[in-house]
Amino acid sequence: MNPGKSDKHLKIGMLGCGVVGSQVARLMLESSEDLNARSGATLELVKIAVRDLKTERPGINPAILTTDADSVVNDPDIDIVIEVMGGIEPARTLVLQAMQNGKSVVTANKAMLGRHGAEMFKAAMKNKVDLYYEASVAGAIPILRPMGESLAGDYVRRVMGIVNGTTNYILTKMDESGASFADALKEAQALGYAEADPTADVEGFDAAAKIAILATLAFHTEVIDTEVSREGISGITAEDVAVAKSLGLVVKLIAIAELNNKEEISVRVHPTMLARTHPLASVRDSYNAVFVEAESAGELMFYGRGAGGAPTASAILGDLVEVARHKVDGGLGAPETDYADLDMAPIGSMPTRYLIRLEVLDIPGVLASVANTFAHHNISIQTVRQTGRDDRAELIVMTHMALDKDLANTVAELAKLDTVKEVASVIRVEGTLS
Ligand code: HSE
Repeated sequence: MNPGKSDKHLKIGMLGCGVVGSQVARLMLESSEDLNARSGATLELVKIAVRDLKTERPGINPAILTTDADSVVNDPDIDIVIEVMGGIEPARTLVLQAMQNGKSVVTANKAMLGRHGAEMFKAAMKNKVDLYYEASVAGAIPILRPMGESLAGDYVRRVMGIVNGTTNYILTKMDESGASFADALKEAQALGYAEADPTADVEGFDAAAKIAILATLAFHTEVIDTEVSREGISGITAEDVAVAKSLGLVVKLIAIAELNNKEEISVRVHPTMLARTHPLASVRDSYNAVFVEAESAGELMFYGRGAGGAPTASAILGDLVEVARHKVDGGLGAPETDYADLDMAPIGSMPTRYLIRLEVLDIPGVLASVANTFAHHNISIQTVRQTGRDDRAELIVMTHMALDKDLANTVAELAKLDTVKEVASVIRVEGTLS
């Protein structure tokens, strides 16, 4: 079958032409015959809004470049807009305008959808256009359509992902070579993974927006990035990574969205010590992966390149072909549903296991007072390891499941003990330990 028989000619406008946009433009030119055959229409990239007309853009006809983004979204001839400019504004206003003008939109913008997804999807429905966004979470990995469509008949209980490649690269280097966070970050910057200002990646903002998008789909409930409890990796030390290694664990920045036993959603991003036997533990370098647990499907894992020009462009072109098919055949893609409208669990209300590293005086009674402090806050200790260092000792305490607030109170009390010189770190633990 060759659906490319239709004589439909679809004009495409693009907002942005950076690392991702330039790859979308290149692939649209290089693969045009196949994209046309697969979508059933002739797809033509007719206009690209850029910040600077002088930037070298090999292979792109300069005549289709403009600095006037409004002229793309308001062009009556344009049928589909691809948004790859990133950031919340002006992207949000431009995309809303495009949809109001009857254009379907394909976007890679997690910041915009992580904050304003509900508004944007309502606008798409109202204007009877498609808003596709596979590239916004985990780059090339097909995860949003499987979540929103293939799993639409199931009940997702938990989504757990490594959805930021920069931090995964940094933590992998720290694990492999014992490097400090600062040195691993410098290496990531030199290789172009981390930005000059790495805050969005290393402090977990990028992952928070992505898990908000995933949680919205998984639980049919609007979740926005500011509701995500977030902690980044800038406080992770070489010692934390070495201790994890010695215990058969690996430190990862994990984004989690899960249901508690009251059917409330807990959504969080934080460094996690993961058992090396967990499927996510083997996701190294800048790769991403999303691990899904659903009632009937069981465990599923999606793995691949979460960033980069060509991988992200692959997801965008997949969406573009799908949206173009709808323009040929009529109809629209599956709408977003937020009918379940579940409550968000209060931050810190989900129990987790913790690993606490303490530097203490190596004198009689110290272990007892530390153990008492945990007991006082109703936290059960699973294991304790002590390593002597002159008159000091390092205590590594692994807890059973404990609540965030109980742990915080325990740590505050431990820090006040004369015999505790330092609470060096407190990190959550996931997965079955061997
Ligand atoms: N900065 C992101 C990452 C890629 O490192 O994964 C785009 O979302």
